Amino acid sequence: MKPTFGSPQEIDARLAEAESAELIKLTPISKSLGMEVEGVDLKQKLSTEQVAAVYDALIRHKLLVFKKISLNHEQQVRFTYELSNASPNIGAPTIGHTVFGHVDKYPEIFSVYQGETSKPRNMERYEATAATHPWTGYHCDITACVNPPCIGMLRGEIIPKGAGDTNFGNLAAAYETLDQSTKEQLATLQAEHEYKFGKKGTEAGDSIATRRMVSHHPLVTVHPDTGEKILFNSPAFLKFVVGMTDEDSTALLHKIWEHSVEYTVRHVWDQGDLVVWDERSTTHRAPTDIYSSGTERQLYRTTLVGQQLQGLNGIVSEIVEGEPMLSCKEELTSEMHIGRTGTSRTGNSFGGTFPEPN
Ligand SMILES: [Fe+2]
Repeated sequence: MKPTFGSPQEIDARLAEAESAELIKLTPISKSLGMEVEGVDLKQKLSTEQVAAVYDALIRHKLLVFKKISLNHEQQVRFTYELSNASPNIGAPTIGHTVFGHVDKYPEIFSVYQGETSKPRNMERYEATAATHPWTGYHCDITACVNPPCIGMLRGEIIPKGAGDTNFGNLAAAYETLDQSTKEQLATLQAEHEYKFGKKGTEAGDSIATRRMVSHHPLVTVHPDTGEKILFNSPAFLKFVVGMTDEDSTALLHKIWEHSVEYTVRHVWDQGDLVVWDERSTTHRAPTDIYSSGTERQLYRTTLVGQQLQGLNGIVSEIVEGEPMLSCKEELTSEMHIGRTGTSRTGNSFGGTFPEPN
């Protein structure tokens, strides 16, 4: 099936035209992925052509960085809605966070806060977990859900110096560079993704328990807009490969996780940065050095509802437990968000496991 937005070469040709017409200016930020974007003022309403150019840049380069643009809540929400019209394969903005809720008065926004009040109770265990493997903490957002977000964006509001970087990884490059026999092995496999962390009786644990989600996703997915094959792995949520013994599953997952961290970039935040990523083709990892630095960090996230993921040979994501993610309006109407506080404040202390980080 032809991808909705054509091949990567066709997207490149459109982007070259958009750059000549001064609709957008793109500068690479690493060999693996990502472009810095200039020439698009996200504080103003965008034209259809500008939205199309931004979306082409996003699906082609997977990570877009708008440096020091200092949007407010209204401007970030407006841009999130503008972007939702860019492709038939992306949904409306969803609620701030499917499990943790949204910030006061802005139902599309989730607060990502790290600081003294969110410090893990067991720092030793937290730091030990962080150091275990190079892939620890990498994830695509909320892949426990059958239709995880397709696009995520984060705005930096309080940014500490010398700490708090976010890493992003290119999962299309990770697939492309696998050896042929591993590609063949993965072609028909699915993996179970679960929202598992959280102690009963804590705010985070209770939030997770009241929105239980377990799903099966193909290990190799096809991006609906570009046709690229993706090594869809989300270590923080992915528990095992369906139908394999524990031993074989762990060996295979460690192999692909170790391989995937080769294609990553580290984003060093400035206050006011807006970072947008394609959740279908990238992974990301939260910093773990905030607590020992003694500083605080405040980001705000919005996300767009995604689809079930398409694998090879007709495999599609399936629900094991829970409900699909809905648009913000539908989530609010469902009343599933009463009592959820819209912050990761308590979600950052899951006893050494990683929260819903960014
Ligand atoms: Fe995240």
